[in-house]
Amino acid sequence: MSPPTVFIQAFGCQMNKLDAELALSALRRAGYEEASSPKEADVILYNTCSVRAHAEERVYSNLGNLKSLKRHKPHLVIGVLGCMAQKDREKILERLPHVGLVCGTREFPRIAELVAEARRSGPVLACSETGAVSVERDVACRPTRFQAYVSVMRGCDNFCAYCVVPYVRGREISRRPEKIVDEVRRLVGDGCREITLVGQNVNSYGKSFGKPGALPELLARLDGIAGLDRLRFITSHPKDISRETLEAVRDLPAVCEHLHVPAQSGSDRILAAMNRRYTSRRYRELLALAKELVPDMAIASDFIVGFPGETEEDFEQTASLLREARFQQCFVFKYSPRPGTRAAKLKDDVPLSEKRRRNARLLEIQSEVSSEEHKKFIGREVEVLVEGSSKRDSNRLTGRRRTNHIVVFEGPVELAGKLVRVHVTAATPLTLSGKLRRTC
Ligand code: 5AD
Ligand code: SF4
Repeated sequence: MSPPTVFIQAFGCQMNKLDAELALSALRRAGYEEASSPKEADVILYNTCSVRAHAEERVYSNLGNLKSLKRHKPHLVIGVLGCMAQKDREKILERLPHVGLVCGTREFPRIAELVAEARRSGPVLACSETGAVSVERDVACRPTRFQAYVSVMRGCDNFCAYCVVPYVRGREISRRPEKIVDEVRRLVGDGCREITLVGQNVNSYGKSFGKPGALPELLARLDGIAGLDRLRFITSHPKDISRETLEAVRDLPAVCEHLHVPAQSGSDRILAAMNRRYTSRRYRELLALAKELVPDMAIASDFIVGFPGETEEDFEQTASLLREARFQQCFVFKYSPRPGTRAAKLKDDVPLSEKRRRNARLLEIQSEVSSEEHKKFIGREVEVLVEGSSKRDSNRLTGRRRTNHIVVFEGPVELAGKLVRVHVTAATPLTLSGKLRRTC
């Protein structure tokens, strides 16, 4: 008999992608093979996201579409994993009776067992509030041979007023540094050149084991691992990112000159209502310090438009911050109330049409900024880690600078995983393009 097959898809953040890889590796160890499409699979798993209503709607619509597949293939098990499972629990089984497994964020280590139970004896609901949160890592499971994500902490204690993460992911728990160092060593030994450390709020790494502010020390330990060329960390909170962390970016050769520090708003009134615990002035000071210590630092940010009570004046302050900060990249989201959060009690009073207008306006500003900033690279030679063929144009390769700028150029696909130098000849708001000079 051929082995059972599983198709797994992740929605939302990098942490979810990593969890999906970990679940897949656990199922592989239990004898499953990966299916290339949902149609061919015996088990379909969605690792879900609850951060915004839109992300949930996408999952519910995808799940709805699987109904007819389940009718034709009664043995198929459809599983909902992660944040949405933790939040909606039995409501998922009530709304979608063709779903056979609901597995919350704390049940990942038991995934193979839960899938087996669902295949054997029908719907399984597993959403405990407590329990171990990390799954043993199989180093073979990662997005590419030379890149990997490594979880350093889970959960969040910040309770930003709009955010569901502390409710669905639970309180912050940091992994012990020895475990992380060991995992990174094994990944690098297996050919990884770039590691991204992930956590909801990496700057409070260490707090749960009594050593807050331990991130720079962890970066220093990892930086010493021979063969590791690039080390990144996401996501940073503006109130917690320390001078020592910025100095680590400056001083440690592997640590990349790239930060993701969501500002969320440029208005102090809105920042206070969001419970972000910094002012726009403090955020600006942080950007100035980052650029002073590391002149090539590229900074990415997130913004929410249409938070309850956001006036035109508040919005204009956000627009000014965007124009001034000259971010490398911005992610802009329309506010959506999340059940159980503090902001859900406030009136969602900015009309959707206005949220759309503000969203488009911020993206327009960022596009102008990126276009101007990217032009400054024309004529320069940049170092690129090649990721593979470009999705848009299979004759070209795509890769990234240490600063996370995307660079496309012509070259043989065998260069994937290599560091090369590219002479930049053109730029758009999204990418730099150029000519391959040489491998490093
Ligand atoms: N509505 C809109 N955007 C949100 N985000 C988090 N919660 C919400 C919400 N309720 C955004 C924030 C965060 C990013 C991951 O998602 O900008 O940084
Ligand atoms: Fe959510 Fe705020 Fe925690 Fe980020 S820091 S995960 S926005 S509560």
